Amino acid sequence: MDVQEKKKQRYERIEEQIGGLLEKSDDVIARMATVIAILHHKMDGFFWTGFYILRGRKLVVGPYQGPVACQELEYGKGVCWASVLQEKTVVVENVHDFPGHIACDARSKSEIVVPLRNRDGDIIAVLDVDSSRYGNFDEIDATGLEKIVGMILP
Ligand code: SME
Repeated sequence: MDVQEKKKQRYERIEEQIGGLLEKSDDVIARMATVIAILHHKMDGFFWTGFYILRGRKLVVGPYQGPVACQELEYGKGVCWASVLQEKTVVVENVHDFPGHIACDARSKSEIVVPLRNRDGDIIAVLDVDSSRYGNFDEIDATGLEKIVGMILP
């Protein structure tokens, strides 16, 4: 089995596990924290895994695992804001090539950001994953993480 197929299968197993665990609480923060813990420890190369929550014109850090991160992200700057403003998942193969990238930790090399929407379709937070490897994220991660983010709201 090739590496991509393995990654796909890992996302499928994780989705199942998360589905079971999320039955235990309707609290969004508890659900976010659970998803972060599973992703961070089960996926290869996830160096920083967390949510940034949209509060007006601020993105404020939520549940996360990994090194200490920026608590607030300046409006309009960086990958997380790009995802919010473009209203889509953003994959960055090399963060050094992304204009305005916010480096909370110099070891981060690639990144994926997936928006979380409420029932009206408005973005309320983003899932942000950084890797210490270049080009760690692809379409398989985008699809897998979008599915998982879609499970957060009870
Ligand atoms: N790199 C992000 C900031 C958050 S840290 O990666 C944890 C960005 O450019 O938005």
